[in-house]
Amino acid sequence: MPNDSTRLGPRSAELRRRAAARTPGGVHSNVRLTGAQEFIERAKGAWLYSVDGRDYVDYLLGQGPNFLGHAPDHVVDAVSDACRRGVIFGGQHELEVQASELVCRAVGWADMIRFGVSGTEVVQGALRLARAATGRTKVIRFEGHYHGWLDNVLTAARDGHWGVATKGQVARHLDDFIVLPWNDAEQVADALDRHGEQVAAVIMEPVMINAGVIEPLPGYLEAVRRLCDRHGVVLIFDEVISGFRLGLGGGAERYGVPPDLATYGKAIAGGFPVAALVGRAELMSRFGTGEVNHSGTFNGSVMATAAVAATVTSLLEDPPYERVAKHGRTLMVGLRDLGIEHGLPLRVEGLPAAFHVSFGDAEVRDYRTLQRLDLARYERLSRVLVEHGLWVTGRGVWYVSACHGEEELDAALTRFEKALRDGAGR
Ligand SMILES: Cc1ncc(COP(=O)(O)O)c(C=O)c1O
Repeated sequence: MPNDSTRLGPRSAELRRRAAARTPGGVHSNVRLTGAQEFIERAKGAWLYSVDGRDYVDYLLGQGPNFLGHAPDHVVDAVSDACRRGVIFGGQHELEVQASELVCRAVGWADMIRFGVSGTEVVQGALRLARAATGRTKVIRFEGHYHGWLDNVLTAARDGHWGVATKGQVARHLDDFIVLPWNDAEQVADALDRHGEQVAAVIMEPVMINAGVIEPLPGYLEAVRRLCDRHGVVLIFDEVISGFRLGLGGGAERYGVPPDLATYGKAIAGGFPVAALVGRAELMSRFGTGEVNHSGTFNGSVMATAAVAATVTSLLEDPPYERVAKHGRTLMVGLRDLGIEHGLPLRVEGLPAAFHVSFGDAEVRDYRTLQRLDLARYERLSRVLVEHGLWVTGRGVWYVSACHGEEELDAALTRFEKALRDGAGR
């Protein structure tokens, strides 16, 4: 059910009523069913402004894409200038070439790229390519990692087991997955010893940002890389969140472990809907021969490639990663201190560019240990934070953008403290 707890302004309440009449749940993505329900009129930099005149410091960033802040002028200008010359041609254009070269240069290890529209679909491309290249069907994946909403990848925990996540999902479409706890290389070694000849790929977020913003243990990614090489298995990093956020080369660069294929989305295009599959030439070239199908009317559109070219150019020329990390670090410390001051067991952990807020004191290394925290208590707090002008979700993941500065830090900590003083988090 939609989250009703945010006290909506009158204009939002009216729009919400109209939305609900025409759109199931009043939203166009189920992820938003449980989020804040205030209607947004405009957004700039690190701020959102509602139709009722409220402002919010944004730490959700549209679920991640607005890494450069909302409506970055240079990206919006590049897109609008380019689109005046046409939006989609059913043929090739120079911006595609530029954007492809820029992404491969930024990522570092990848030879080739195909653009798509959503993270969900480029994950499909990666799995298909891995299966085509190996002639095998099974895929090892991990508890807590999200790879899109389609039948063959959407999973959820029920009674301690991973399986179908939604009504209408065909359970047998998940049959080819071997689901393991993450951050445990022995489990991967064991699964590959038993099923290696059938396993096409190992897919993971190199940092499990979706669930708890948990980093790989030292040596884990390296061990999985070695195991994949030993068993002839394709290693896929799903960098839809981590890509261009943790650094130009995402998780692969941060931890120094190159995959064979990687998926990108969100931060790659300054807020525009673009995703990409990148990889080594001997895999990716199979699309080019027509041996493996990858299609899409809107792939590589003028809008998409103009947005990517402008975004990646600015990230290469003026990398914001240090200042993003500084803001994130200071904010994490500030939130922790406020928790202590108010006698609350607030837990703030993760990377500075994305971190996780919850309650509790467990040692967390994977999805199962994450459940030892009081995640429901944070979800309740998050609703009050929205009422106090902090745009966050109940999931506990906070994203920092290149536009978050001193002003946002002050506002965020002041608003957070006010929420705690008002009794939130108890
Ligand atoms: C790691 C990861 N992979 C894939 C996806 C799916 O991307 P999209 O929502 O663009 O389809 C997401 C979305 O959050 C994600 O976090």
